[in-house]
Amino acid sequence: MIPSLDPKLSRPSLTNSSQPLNGWVQGLRGNNHVQFLQLRTNGNILQVVCEKETLGEELFKQIKSLPQETSISVTGSWQENVKAPGGEELVLSTLTIVGNSSDYPITPKEHGPDFLHNHRHLWLRSKRQLAIQRVRSELSFAIREFFRNDGYTLIDTPILTGSIGESAGTLFSTEYFDLGQAYLAQTGQLYLETAAFAHSKVYCFGPTFRAEKSKTKRHLTEFWMLEAETAFLDQDANLDLQERFVKSVLRTTIERTIEELKTLERDPEPLLKVLNTPFPRVDYGDAIQILKDAKETIEWGEDINAEREQILTNHFGTAIFIQNFPRSIKAFYMKQNPQDPRTVLSADLIAPDGIGEIIGGSEREESYEKIVERLNEEGLPPEDYSWYLDLRKYGSVPHAGFGMGLERVIAWVCGLPHIRECIPFPRMIYRLTP
Ligand code: 4AD
Ligand code: MG
Repeated sequence: MIPSLDPKLSRPSLTNSSQPLNGWVQGLRGNNHVQFLQLRTNGNILQVVCEKETLGEELFKQIKSLPQETSISVTGSWQENVKAPGGEELVLSTLTIVGNSSDYPITPKEHGPDFLHNHRHLWLRSKRQLAIQRVRSELSFAIREFFRNDGYTLIDTPILTGSIGESAGTLFSTEYFDLGQAYLAQTGQLYLETAAFAHSKVYCFGPTFRAEKSKTKRHLTEFWMLEAETAFLDQDANLDLQERFVKSVLRTTIERTIEELKTLERDPEPLLKVLNTPFPRVDYGDAIQILKDAKETIEWGEDINAEREQILTNHFGTAIFIQNFPRSIKAFYMKQNPQDPRTVLSADLIAPDGIGEIIGGSEREESYEKIVERLNEEGLPPEDYSWYLDLRKYGSVPHAGFGMGLERVIAWVCGLPHIRECIPFPRMIYRLTP
């Protein structure tokens, strides 16, 4: 029987100590008299003290040679030890082997990233990987909590779609019976917009797909995106919501994963400092000027790449919104800026420390004529979007939304240089297995 464990506690409650603990041998160390067995149970690593004197010669010898990742069931009694994980350790009484293991490929020695990714199905058991997935789990939960508490309705948008959501350049497509091509969703946004006209405040949270040909540290071909869409919201209020949302869910996640961040040797203080400062809202044009002043060769109209995003966050010393991008480099659905028709009412939130863009969002074009004009400019057939265009026919309202890439935010929280460890099974241009 599995003891009732609060997944956030590093040990079962002391009153339950008579129940067996089930898990795997993460590691063993010690001497001829006492062995300290690291037991992985419910994703936590506990110390089990195995003393020859109480266990007897034979069992002690068996324990001493237990191969890594043998699955076992143990009983014992708890004692305090400030040096043990969680401040307590189990003094072993009985041990039963559940399943054998031999020649486990991931040993405590250093392995290269390729080897580890080839063994991702086993690598998930390692201490740092346990911590990263726990952070992911807490962040995902905090995201859902935030929107529920804010009165948003969860809308699950389809993964197989018939119209292009973001850009034709990064589409995965597949034959779909007699109906031609289906695409894997790049975004849930267009569907979410329709649901916002039903529920006013909606969000979706699921996997999205981009056939990104780039091998960068921040691109996956399958990543999880949180998207929110709100009716009767303008772009300034959309930015207020994003800032409140990011700050709230990151603070909550940090509070709930202090132990995991310690394992990852991530000091949360610099991040908390960023969360305690307002995020400057920098006009795209001003950002270009700052880059030019920093001797970058860039002209108005060009996109801002990752290196330049970092120059900008260094300049402001915190996360920043870059807003009002040129219309020509942004998606068809963004609302034209009435103050400067060359631009759209859009913004990207750029996280510091080289993490880069974590959110893209905008106010949506609510004029039927303007959005058809933009679809035509992009070479997207308006007839494929008739259902989306209906929103502009039947009670069109100002509305705005945004999408946040989950893995980039996890990399930020955990202080990781690459987002590929932030998802259990990363999909990249050169990786489809395990
Ligand atoms: O800026 P993007 O492309 O925006 C959209 O898809 C909008 N439809 C969202 C909306 O307004 N509802 O993507 C949003 C975020 C980016 O800021 C980034 O964090 C993440 O998704 N992202 C990726 N993350 C990992 N790998 C990729 N290939 C990513 N592409 C985008
Ligand atoms: Mg973007």
